[in-house]
Amino acid sequence: MDKLIIHGGKRLKGEVAISGAKNAALPIMAASLLSSGYSTISRVPDLRDIMTMGRLFANLGAGFHYEDSKAVINTEKIKVYEAPYDLVRKMRASILVLGPLLSRYGRAKVSLPGGCAIGARPINFHLNGLEKMGADIKLESGYVIAKAKRLRGASLYFDIPTVTGTENLMMAASLAKGITLLENAAREPEVTDLANALISMGAKIKGAGESVIEIEGVDELKPADYTIIPDRIEAGTFMTIAGITGGDIILKGCRQKHLDASIMKLKEAGLSFENVPDGLRVTGPGRPAASDIKTQPYPGFPTDMQAQFMSLMCIADGTSIIKETIFENRFMHVAELKRMGADITVEGGVSTVRGISKLKGAPLMATDLRASASLIVAALAAKGETVIHRIYHLDRGYENMEGKLSKIGADVKRAKEDQ
Ligand code: EPZ
Repeated sequence: MDKLIIHGGKRLKGEVAISGAKNAALPIMAASLLSSGYSTISRVPDLRDIMTMGRLFANLGAGFHYEDSKAVINTEKIKVYEAPYDLVRKMRASILVLGPLLSRYGRAKVSLPGGCAIGARPINFHLNGLEKMGADIKLESGYVIAKAKRLRGASLYFDIPTVTGTENLMMAASLAKGITLLENAAREPEVTDLANALISMGAKIKGAGESVIEIEGVDELKPADYTIIPDRIEAGTFMTIAGITGGDIILKGCRQKHLDASIMKLKEAGLSFENVPDGLRVTGPGRPAASDIKTQPYPGFPTDMQAQFMSLMCIADGTSIIKETIFENRFMHVAELKRMGADITVEGGVSTVRGISKLKGAPLMATDLRASASLIVAALAAKGETVIHRIYHLDRGYENMEGKLSKIGADVKRAKEDQ
């Protein structure tokens, strides 16, 4: 178990290379299961979650090799159609193999993901959709056991625009017989990236990125050879770091259009943005202004940016109201921020943040991926030393965070817990 030791208070300046998007890499790797042969996926970030997915592939009998941000997956020898509990409990996104395995092999046994720190995370939309497409779905001792001769196209509607639900069913529909409509589909850029990867494999998909996606099933897909999009949440996280340290950071590879809502809110908080060749330059104000946010499905303000934005608001000149509408328990960073002197009260899904002039370093505990990022954001501006424990949460979704931070002048070190 590692910890991060950060001495805050420095204005961070310089260039950060934005890595590939974790939440695009995971579904696109799963999509390779729809084909037979060697798939090559580029700009894949070096993350724990990617390695967990690699172990899952090995468990299926697929070959998995990762080097220089490239994942090569060989699906010729798949002979097991099971995602076991010990892997799924480490990474909920393992559920993304359900649709592809069922659609290509007619069977799948995937452990129910169970809840996680931020919420119950049910998968009813995934399972209802597969049933409507003709799958026989049973739940037995914590596993989803799915069978289908051949899935058939159906018109599906999501009560909530679920990201991985849209992705699972888009993949399943790609090899189904007939046309599938996904209504009230998720519009996240990672969903569109998956659709583009599937289209490059021979899938027939229209409307990705909109609320209605049409998929016309085909009989076979060829292996993927695809480069994924940059990680908009990593880019957004570094924007809040520029904001809270009064810094001046160039985000290489950042796709501004994927972050419209976040940039709008960060501009309200006093940050300024400038397009530069192959990136975006972000400069922070002397002190951020307070700004209210409400998390929404894309293109609204992303729930994955809520914790980082809250850290920025802790030192804002004014009071900020932060509403979390996507997950029921995504304020676990609040207790840790309060240990640094932040003035925050939580009522149901609403946090009220009264800005103070300076946070103080403290020993902190990371609880989930984006909470751990928010503690780093706060620590970089805090007076004195902050030690963040259990940063395995961070390693799930941020590639070489301390290396990127050191490069722009941060005083950050990784150490073993017993050091
Ligand atoms: C994806 O999770 C992301 N993960 C999450 O990122 C992200 O926070 C989330 O989308 C929302 O944007 C990946 O892409 C791997 P949902 P997902 O299904 O698909 C409810 C991170 O930090 N729901 O869009 O699991 C659900 O409870 C992670 O990188 C059902 O009720 O989220 C939630 O309230 C954290 N039934 C809402 O919908 C279902 O069958 C949105 O969930 C599915 C979802």
